[in-house]
Amino acid sequence: MPTYILGIESSCDDTSASVLCDGKVLSNLVANQEIHKSYGGVVPELASRAHQQNIIPVVNQAILKANIDKKQLNAIAYTRGPGLLGSLLVGSSFSKSLSMGLEVPIIEVNHMQAHLLAHFIEDCNTEKPEFPFIGVTISGGHTQIVLVKDYFDMKVIGETLDDAIGETFDKCGKMMGLSYPAGPLVDKNSKLGDAEKFKFTKPKVAGLNFSFSGLKTGFHRFIENKIREEENFLSIETNNLCASLQKTIVDILYEKINSAVQETGIKNIVFGGGVSCNTGIIERFKNDNNNFKAFFPKFEYTTDNAAMIAMVGYLKYLNSDFSNLKEGAKARYKI
Ligand code: KG4
Ligand code: ZN
Repeated sequence: MPTYILGIESSCDDTSASVLCDGKVLSNLVANQEIHKSYGGVVPELASRAHQQNIIPVVNQAILKANIDKKQLNAIAYTRGPGLLGSLLVGSSFSKSLSMGLEVPIIEVNHMQAHLLAHFIEDCNTEKPEFPFIGVTISGGHTQIVLVKDYFDMKVIGETLDDAIGETFDKCGKMMGLSYPAGPLVDKNSKLGDAEKFKFTKPKVAGLNFSFSGLKTGFHRFIENKIREEENFLSIETNNLCASLQKTIVDILYEKINSAVQETGIKNIVFGGGVSCNTGIIERFKNDNNNFKAFFPKFEYTTDNAAMIAMVGYLKYLNSDFSNLKEGAKARYKI
C-alpha cells in the first residue's frame, strides 16, 4: 500500500502544502505573500492573516493536484518551528484539526531539519548525499553548520552570532534601493558587476561561528560616504556593489566551510535554505578544485516549501514517530 503524506508549511511568509507518495512529490503548492514587498520586509501580523486566508485553498489545491481523496492521506506533517509564532500557529492549528477530522496521525517537523532532509525527496537532485555530511542551512533567518550523522542525528557546530546570511543580502540590498527580498536581485545584478571593485572588511569570528552585522554596518557606512561624494553613486555602481558584496559573503561562507571540513574530516557538504540557490555560492562550492563535494537542492526545494516538510513527515512515519495534539508551535526550535 502506498503511503500518502500531506505536508503543511507556514513558518514565515509562504503558505505551502504538498502531497508526497512514498517520498515522491505529487503536488507542492506555494502561495507567496506579496503584501510584504511594500513594507521592505515581513510584517508578522500581516503574515499570520495571509496564512489564514491562504491555507484552506492551498491545501485543497495540493490534494486536488495530487489526484487523491483526502481520506487516502496516512498522516499530516506540519512545521512546528522555528519561525514567526503567529504564522506557525495558523499551520499547526489547522494541521491538528485536519488530523483529528481525518483520524490520521499528526507529525511535527523542525523546519531547519527539513531544509537539509529536502535532499531525500525523490526528484530533489540526481545523487543523494551519504551520511555523515556537513549540513549548511542558509536562509533569511538562519546560518548554521550542522554535523549530520543520520536523518535525525544532527548537531549544530557553528552558527551566526547575529544576522543571518539571507538577512545580510536583504538588508544591504535594501540600502541600495532594491525591493524585498533583495537576495535574488543582488545575485542577478552581481552577474553584471565587477566583484573586485570594492573591498569590505570580513569579520574575525572564532571557530565555526559567523557574524554578519559588522559587514552590514560597514556596507552602510561605505555607501553613505560615497553618496556624499557623488549623489548618483548608487545608480552608477549598483552592479559593482552587488558583485563585491556577494563575493565577500561567499568568501566568508567558503572559509568557514573549509574549516568545518578540516575539523571534521567530512567531505560531503549539503546545502539547504533560500540562499542556497545563490549562483555565486553554487559556482564557488561546485568547483572541481575543492577538496569536498557540494550538494545543492533543486530550486523549488531551496526556499520555503511544504514538500520538504512532507518528506520529513514520511521519514518519521516510517519510524512511527508521531506527535500529539498537545505539542504546540515553537518560535525558537533548535535542530
Ligand atoms: O529559506 P527561505 O525561503 O526563508 C527563510 O526561512 O528565511 O529563505 C529566504 C531568503 C531571503 O533572505 C532571500 O533574500 C534569500 O533567501 N534568497 C537569496 C537568493 N534567493 C533567495 N539570497 C541570495 N541569492 C539568491 N539567489
Ligand atoms: Zn526556510
